[in-house]
Amino acid sequence: MTEIAILGYGTVGSGVAEVIGTNAELIAARGCALHVKYILDLRDFPGDPYGERVVHDFTCILDDPEIKVICETMGGVGAAYQFSKQALEKGISVCTSNKELVELHGAELSRIAKENHCSYLFEASVGGGIPLIRTICQGLTAEKIEKIYGILNGTTNYILTKMDREGADFDAVLKEAQANGYAEKDPTADIEAHDPCRKIAILASLVTGKKVDWKNIRCEGITKLEKADFAYAWALDAQIKLVAMSEFTEKGCYACVSPRLLPADSPLLCAQDVFNAVLIHSNMLDDSLYYGRGAGKLATASAVVGDAIEAAANPGRTMGGSWSEEAALLGDIDEYEQGYFVRLSGAADARREEVQKVFGNGYTVEAKGVPGEFGYVVQKMREGAFLEKIAAMEGVLGYLRYDAPAEK
Ligand SMILES: NC(=O)c1ccc[n+]([C@@H]2O[C@H](COP(=O)([O-])OP(=O)(O)OC[C@H]3O[C@@H](n4cnc5c(N)ncnc54)[C@H](OP(=O)(O)O)[C@@H]3O)[C@@H](O)[C@H]2O)c1
Repeated sequence: MTEIAILGYGTVGSGVAEVIGTNAELIAARGCALHVKYILDLRDFPGDPYGERVVHDFTCILDDPEIKVICETMGGVGAAYQFSKQALEKGISVCTSNKELVELHGAELSRIAKENHCSYLFEASVGGGIPLIRTICQGLTAEKIEKIYGILNGTTNYILTKMDREGADFDAVLKEAQANGYAEKDPTADIEAHDPCRKIAILASLVTGKKVDWKNIRCEGITKLEKADFAYAWALDAQIKLVAMSEFTEKGCYACVSPRLLPADSPLLCAQDVFNAVLIHSNMLDDSLYYGRGAGKLATASAVVGDAIEAAANPGRTMGGSWSEEAALLGDIDEYEQGYFVRLSGAADARREEVQKVFGNGYTVEAKGVPGEFGYVVQKMREGAFLEKIAAMEGVLGYLRYDAPAEK
């Protein structure tokens, strides 16, 4: 039996206690029974089955030699960082769902874990319950990973799915998502895409073995999307999704998070509503797809508990993936080639020649219920060149990245 403590008894932390309680027999049968000895939180939880185990002082957990694993589900990069560091320095393994902390201090905390013969594990920090990190670090060790391409944020996927299916406005759907608990009161990290950007930074750091800072990744949220964008998506038999991508080349890692048009046959379109899907392209296996609940109490907690089991089953050893504190080589995203879709004011017939001259071979698209404008599908070009062209052009109403089929 391994004694553990949970730091933060909120959505994920209470889920950790529930997963351990519900699957206690199964987990014990696998040889690594877990027992929750303490729960650290700011509040008390009278009447809760774990209420008696709640403490408010971290030192009583740190100073208890029976505690071998801590599940950090507090969030933030202040106390969570200090507590994780102190625990690892004492040889206590830490399992976390805290992507912000992993992205910012993951390299350092993993190094401290190694120095102290314990583990810093963070499966739940990317893709909630989908075992993505274990897949990259254990399942694909014979592979050279060339590209990761995925829908990594459940809140925005819910919003985009609703806008697509119901033709609803962004503001209205966001309000509804907040009322249903799918979006936070302050939704900035989701709708401005900081959250999936941190997640792709973590995955890219694991693949490159060096730190990819999310702030160096081109990141565009979904707030500028309009009903008209979805009308064009329907016309093109495509869907708009917030896609985080990272491609690994000899020139470095090219990463970008932005709304994209995905053609109807894209495997990522299995992910609707709050679901996530990630496609990993590697050199021998080719494409492999990972799908599931990217957030939520039990899905996320399941990944945290999976890590706790791994840490408990391997005392004195350092498990999991990590990267060094050295900065990874990033490719200049302006040099990256891809396709685009651009919305332009005026009539397609009147502007076709001008538009073709600027963007080269492509084709115009008209959408139902969107008068006074048209769309143009731009074949592959360098991102920097595309952005320069639209900045210099009259009547550009919006654009999306879109790797369209070559022919209409
Ligand atoms: N919710 C999800 O679906 C999900 C999915 C993947 C990853 N995550 C990540 O998991 C982490 C936790 O998320 P959550 O949704 O479970 O958050 P949450 O519901 O707000 O839970 C956090 C808990 O930690 C407590 N806490 C905060 N600071 C503390 C401190 N200094 N000492 C003791 N307790 C403290 C909070 O207490 P108060 O409420 O009193 O402040 C709260 O009970 C975050 O990093 C989040 O990004 C969440």
